[in-house]
Amino acid sequence: ALKADIERIVQAGEWQRDDLVRVLGTQDAEALETLRAAAEATLLDKVGAGVSLRGLIEFSNVCISDCLYCGIRKHNRKVERYTLTDDEIVASARWCAEMGYGSVVLQSGERRDAQFIDRLAANVRAIKQATRSARQPDGVGITLCVGEQSRDDYQRLFDAGAHRYLLRMETSSPELFALIHPAQQRFETRLQCLKTLREVGFQVGTGVMIGIPGQTLTQLADDLLFFRSLDIDMLGMGPYIPHGAAAMPASLPVAPVAERLDLAFKMIALARLTLGDVNIAATTALQALDPVGRERGLRFGANVIMPQVTPLAVRKQYTLYDGKPCLEDSAGQCATCLEGRIASVNRFIRYHHWGDSVHFARR
Ligand code: 5AD
Repeated sequence: ALKADIERIVQAGEWQRDDLVRVLGTQDAEALETLRAAAEATLLDKVGAGVSLRGLIEFSNVCISDCLYCGIRKHNRKVERYTLTDDEIVASARWCAEMGYGSVVLQSGERRDAQFIDRLAANVRAIKQATRSARQPDGVGITLCVGEQSRDDYQRLFDAGAHRYLLRMETSSPELFALIHPAQQRFETRLQCLKTLREVGFQVGTGVMIGIPGQTLTQLADDLLFFRSLDIDMLGMGPYIPHGAAAMPASLPVAPVAERLDLAFKMIALARLTLGDVNIAATTALQALDPVGRERGLRFGANVIMPQVTPLAVRKQYTLYDGKPCLEDSAGQCATCLEGRIASVNRFIRYHHWGDSVHFARR
């Protein structure tokens, strides 16, 4: 039976592509609990019970890209565009530092003009200055999530003081990538960016969407093998969620919510089992489909949560998919809410820590 096979594979620590496909395809409750428990045990052994927080600052929804699935793609004319002021960005980061969040993520739509990079680098420097404290003499950790950039620009952002970078591949399949992006957005470019980020010195995170229309279990298994071959430090994966103003090919059906969620939890567990000591986020998209989705993500092996700190006035305008949670909760409400949620799954928050990837430290 699958349960016994999972136990054997976990013991041996050797996952073949077929094993991954089989687990991703199962509905067997006993096998799934075995998988979950093994992933949780691996997490506790290699990373520990602590959960690291990154305050998520979505500082602009202006975007030059046109990803077919995304609510803020360039050609969605229904969304009102905003960019936070430098003061708002730094104030949000300072609030995170005061709350003990330890790290922030600066995320935005994609732009590649010099002005954008100049301002972002200046904001990184300003945040570093403004968040120094006795407990974090080097300020908060800064993760960037601003898409494909040139090597020089990655270097400038790194030199300004950012030290982690998230750039999702969205899928490791060039064919599926081509199906959900316009032709000028290229798989090869994205892949090269991940390699460049590593060379520049960033801790590098990537990830995929799970349950993309047309995506197969074999492609998801290959995603896991791809993460391992790239030797990534951090992972952020979430279920695909349709957006009303997106432009996905209508011929491809979307799997039911429960199916996409189950698949996402299986992917998190398998990532923990195959990648070991990397950082894995319990993403907002999990919570969008399940009120306790992030807590469940933690139980399947995740160790990072990104609480919303984007100012409420613009938060609704950063809607990548429908049903985004926490649209009404102030950053303060999110903070209180999180403590309880994380404790409910027998874990605790690591305050005042960058929460760097153990994997990176070991490299
Ligand atoms: N459903 C789920 N995730 C999405 N993202 C963008 N649009 C969607 C969607 N419709 C994710 C992408 C991107 C990240 C910032 O948000 O994976 O990399």
